[in-house]
Amino acid sequence: MSHIEELREPLHWPQGGVTRIPYRLYADQEIYAREQQRIFRGPVWNFLCLEIDIPNEGDYKTSAVGEIPVIVTRDENGGVHAMVNRCSHKGALVCLKERGNAKMLTCIYHSWSFDLQGRLKGISFRNGLQGKGGMPEDFDPDKHGLEMLRVETFCGLVFGTFSDQTPTVESYLGPVMARFIQRTLGKPLQPLGMHSQILHNNWKLYAENVRDSYHATLLHTFYTTFKINRLDMDGGIVLAEDKWHHISYAKRATWKEAEEYARENIHAARYDSNLAGPHLLDSWAEFDDGITHSIQAIFPNLAIQLTLNSLAVRFFVPRGIDKTELFWFYLGYKDDTEEQTAMRVMQGNLTGAAGLVSLEDGCINEFVQRGTRGSEGAAGLAEMGGRDVESSDASRATETAIRGFWTGYRGIMGFD
Ligand SMILES: [Fe+2]
Repeated sequence: MSHIEELREPLHWPQGGVTRIPYRLYADQEIYAREQQRIFRGPVWNFLCLEIDIPNEGDYKTSAVGEIPVIVTRDENGGVHAMVNRCSHKGALVCLKERGNAKMLTCIYHSWSFDLQGRLKGISFRNGLQGKGGMPEDFDPDKHGLEMLRVETFCGLVFGTFSDQTPTVESYLGPVMARFIQRTLGKPLQPLGMHSQILHNNWKLYAENVRDSYHATLLHTFYTTFKINRLDMDGGIVLAEDKWHHISYAKRATWKEAEEYARENIHAARYDSNLAGPHLLDSWAEFDDGITHSIQAIFPNLAIQLTLNSLAVRFFVPRGIDKTELFWFYLGYKDDTEEQTAMRVMQGNLTGAAGLVSLEDGCINEFVQRGTRGSEGAAGLAEMGGRDVESSDASRATETAIRGFWTGYRGIMGFD
């Protein structure tokens, strides 16, 4: 066992299993290091980028798997590759830009260059100068390429894994999750824009937040006031077979006001308001299943959202124990009309760093990070909707998807 396999202070999960979440998990550097190995270098498929980020030969895009910087490329034959963005010579970043197009990837430190499949193709002054210096004769460039990841694409999403043990993306997702991704992303996509924001919290707090169907109507005044996503609409939670991933969905047309909203004095439901610009919420029925809001989270750090017609892929990267970078990729479909594109762009104001809905998520997880400081021996509760970890078609007043995340996390981290 390596040193990070044994924690100096073993973690004893509290009684109650996944209904209890030790606050230490948001604050412990050793556990954070173990996550990098067990999860991000482990048997999971990590979202890397979208295929439309690298449409042409020679395109590259930088990304991250946990803390590890990664480059995704499209080679001369259209193949997609992923490799660690770390020169095999001295470890410098090879690609410095977020995206670009190149025939070779060249490290600026000593001008070593790699092809789009990560193979070492050029060593400056390999034979020295004027007969002096240079690399040893037996130096074998074939053994010093960039560290490669296995790559698979699924519905326009590019995934990478460091592990030989990870099954295919489709079996990693399971049939239920795969089908819903096909529903949402199963036709040619059109990029509408992207941005990122820094969240001042541990990455797992955001993993919980995207699975937290209970909070949506309580924290997000806009959702509740304008009846976009409320718990008194038909909806449910579907868990993946292994519980790691989930879908939360709601059907806006089924809304029937529940008296609990008024009775329980919920701040988000206190307002009876109209929009000065009601066209913000102009929308059309995207699918004939009646679902007007869906969030699908894929373990460990991907979420796919379709709220009204606001289609986005969210991807959150740990940048330290209490810092997370959240990326938003706003999307449409290639066959959208101009009017539809305009509506999607307008609805992009709902979610995102400064959006009318998710600006609250940008700070609420930080409130947890700050609130739990100094209480690493205590634990959070997740008993809403029961203590089991099963799909729920009756109500989204449940934390079953959060319990699902922790089920996956405990298993992969070896926290029994
Ligand atoms: Fe939220």
